[in-house]
Amino acid sequence: MTTVLITGPTRGLGRSTTLALAGRPRAERPDLLLVGRPGRALTDVAAEARALGATVHEIGADLSRLADVRAAATTVREMLETGRVRQLRALIANAGAMSADTRKASADGYELTFAVNYLAHAQLIGDLVDVLEQPARIILLGSNTYHANFWRRLLHVPAAEWTDPMDIAQPAEGSSGVAYSNAKLALLYYAHELQRHVAAGINVSVFEPGWMPGTALGRDAPAAVRAVARGIARIPGVATPESSGPQLASMALDAKWANLRDGAFVVRDRLAPVEPVAHDRARERRLWAATSELLRRATA
Ligand SMILES: NC(=O)c1ccc[n+]([C@@H]2O[C@H](COP(=O)([O-])OP(=O)(O)OC[C@H]3O[C@@H](n4cnc5c(N)ncnc54)[C@H](OP(=O)(O)O)[C@@H]3O)[C@@H](O)[C@H]2O)c1
Repeated sequence: MTTVLITGPTRGLGRSTTLALAGRPRAERPDLLLVGRPGRALTDVAAEARALGATVHEIGADLSRLADVRAAATTVREMLETGRVRQLRALIANAGAMSADTRKASADGYELTFAVNYLAHAQLIGDLVDVLEQPARIILLGSNTYHANFWRRLLHVPAAEWTDPMDIAQPAEGSSGVAYSNAKLALLYYAHELQRHVAAGINVSVFEPGWMPGTALGRDAPAAVRAVARGIARIPGVATPESSGPQLASMALDAKWANLRDGAFVVRDRLAPVEPVAHDRARERRLWAATSELLRRATA
């Protein structure tokens, strides 16, 4: 058996996915590397996963600090080199955040939502891609908010407004919804470009868990909005971490999803086409180059 790394295991979708992975029958159960903000929530979910029978390693990292991300990657590499964990076959880049204030900067000076959702994962994956044991899966977390539709217009959920990534990365006055959608569009572009750069046995895909209004993703939203969201979360059929977590775990483990690549987009349990805006070779190449530059500057 193998090892699965997941970021943001402490609550919401990440927690549910972690427990779904840990709860698999013994023959299918992977070892788990939990990369999350250090603290009680991380130790608690690790303990719950161990109680289900999994071998679990906690790796504390604040993903808004690229130094933490690099240190987490170094720890993982050492664990693999010394045989403390079994072959790393899947990396789930689940952690996400939606900062209410787009002027807020990460420790490295980048817009916080872009930094946590996108840059932290680009750093982590770049640092670990050569220690993945093929065949391997990299699963990124997308969101359909990157494009507008009738319902999102009605609910005032803004779509992405793409500009140059060096500008998107800068903290500035703006809409937190646009920043979130930009970060998720960046992840789609990155998925497509990443697939072109990795070894043939590494498959890159993107998971969209469905709108899970009850999670802490909107924790910075006004109290009234959060109350409405909690109400919607109770409507039957609306996605929840409990329903989407096992689907994400399935994408990491099951033969059914073994051939997903090129940034294939899965919404809950179904492969779905992305909008034409999400395929753009020029933007994908530019994002790749800008990302290298942004990550390089953070180490200077
Ligand atoms: N909720 C939805 O409707 C929805 C829809 C589409 C896609 N998604 C995506 O699904 C993923 C999970 O979202 P969720 O709804 O489960 O959100 P959530 O309940 O807020 O969970 C987010 C996870 O990311 C972690 N995280 C955030 N900032 C971090 C940081 N700086 N350092 C370390 N960890 C950090 C959180 O840890 P802490 O608790 O320590 O902050 C938490 O474990 C995200 O990528 C999100 O964009 C969600």
